[in-house]
Amino acid sequence: MAETPKTVTLTVDGKSVTVPEGTTVLQACETAASPVPFYCYHPGLSIAGNCRICLVEIDNTPKLQIACYIPAAEGMVVRTTSDRVLKGRQDVLEFLLVNHPLDCPVCDQAGECWLQDYYMAYGLYDPKFDEQKVKKSAKAVSIGPRVMLDAERCILCSRCVRFCDEVTKTGEFGIFNRGDHSELGVHPGKQLDNAYSGNVVDICPVGALTDKDFRFKCRVWYLGSTKSVCPGCSMGCNIEIHDNRERSQRPHIAKGARVMRLKPRYNPDVNQWWMCDEGRYGYKFVDENRLTQAQAKDGGGLRPVGWQAAISRLSQAIRALKDANQIERMGVILSTHLTNEDLYVAKRFFRALGVAHLAVQPARQGTGDHLLMKADKSPNTRGAELLELPFDAERVLGMAARRELSLLYVCGPDLAGAYGEGRVRQAAESLDLLIYQGSNDNATSQLAGMVLPGAVYAEKDGTFTNVQGRVQRIRRAVPPLGEAKPDWQIWLELALQMNFLLEFDGAEAVFRSMASHEPAFTGLTYEGLGEQGMLLNGH
Ligand code: SF4
Ligand code: FES
Repeated sequence: MAETPKTVTLTVDGKSVTVPEGTTVLQACETAASPVPFYCYHPGLSIAGNCRICLVEIDNTPKLQIACYIPAAEGMVVRTTSDRVLKGRQDVLEFLLVNHPLDCPVCDQAGECWLQDYYMAYGLYDPKFDEQKVKKSAKAVSIGPRVMLDAERCILCSRCVRFCDEVTKTGEFGIFNRGDHSELGVHPGKQLDNAYSGNVVDICPVGALTDKDFRFKCRVWYLGSTKSVCPGCSMGCNIEIHDNRERSQRPHIAKGARVMRLKPRYNPDVNQWWMCDEGRYGYKFVDENRLTQAQAKDGGGLRPVGWQAAISRLSQAIRALKDANQIERMGVILSTHLTNEDLYVAKRFFRALGVAHLAVQPARQGTGDHLLMKADKSPNTRGAELLELPFDAERVLGMAARRELSLLYVCGPDLAGAYGEGRVRQAAESLDLLIYQGSNDNATSQLAGMVLPGAVYAEKDGTFTNVQGRVQRIRRAVPPLGEAKPDWQIWLELALQMNFLLEFDGAEAVFRSMASHEPAFTGLTYEGLGEQGMLLNGH
């Protein structure tokens, strides 16, 4: 018989709360909806107990105790808001702030600084220190390719030290010297250049560690936040996309909201609190080198032709093959960067048309590790597998080069990048029409006779299935650039033009249809996926 987990029952601010044995008082206070402030505590790291802000009063214990360190015990009576506790917190804050430079107006952490937040919530004291006690250190020191250190602002919580010791096990940080001379830094001759370095910026509660990529780009109170999933590899780390939507509404900012930074979002079953730098800083393709207009080649290079004209030309080309009973001369190559919804609509539409050569380009392989990064650099390889689409893009490309196809429709992958420009050029020259539909300009789009702009993941709703078989939602954070549209929507327009009955009023409707037609996704609903996705049966 399975052993029942042991629990303890304690009282927090008069509320009885039962928690598993081994829970700290700090966690029990959170469970009791009486949260206590903390700096050095982090649920993903060992306990340091050095910042002292989490003080609570425990019956039968003469001194105030730090809640992050003490295990909750049966019958314990804890107070988090007594006069002694509030005074203790104020004193800790005053000691921390007496050594902290008042450079909030020029600090990039302003607005998301825990010193600022706690001062407003628990500080507001009359300062007793007149003298300036800030330990002078070099400001804005580059300590690696991604991160700047301002040691003056550091409150020595050691979160960054523990992250590099315990999570990445790279040990770049140390706290040097003793007592009031203690100072955070990287070990001599070392740089903070591990594959997860951006996480130290997330967990630093103050402005000591800031992100070179984000510094001074946008004040955080102008940021909007959207829950999504990183498209950088098949792990599908949960993220928040931060965009400048508040600022972009101001009349003097011409451009609409765009992505400013990515932050990891807690998912205990996928990425916990972390994400890798490759994913975090890999969002630049959202704005750089985008395809924003429908284009076609007219003798010379690609020129804008207008969306409707492009769709109608494309439908005529497909219709001509169909009418001549030559639809077997059409090939379609899809990408593992497309959402489940895109792939599902593509499968239904092209199969209904009679396209036999419908293939998926396998994901690019890169570096993987034991922590989060997977070698498969696509977010939806598993989704394409579960939709039973064949991964034989190279065969279809070969058919084009051998003149066995007259129309090849490439949706997403840069085939020239994968197989060489020469092979795609040869295929393009052997075809009547090479169509490229995708978000970014590349060597394949340059060789195409027609280009349709697709939306990137941050501009559309949908789902990806990660390597574990977990279906997770992505959400539209910013509007698509120019004429770009979600791929499934482009195929609906094409279907409509060709009098095919294929109608969905949004990504959720596509998902519903997929869940009722595709065995691997049977029974799933958007609501059921929740914030953290759902593991498919058999995984
Ligand atoms: Fe803590 Fe930040 Fe200082 Fe590191 S740099 S010890 S995370 S305050
Ligand atoms: Fe408890 Fe820092 S959070 S001592």
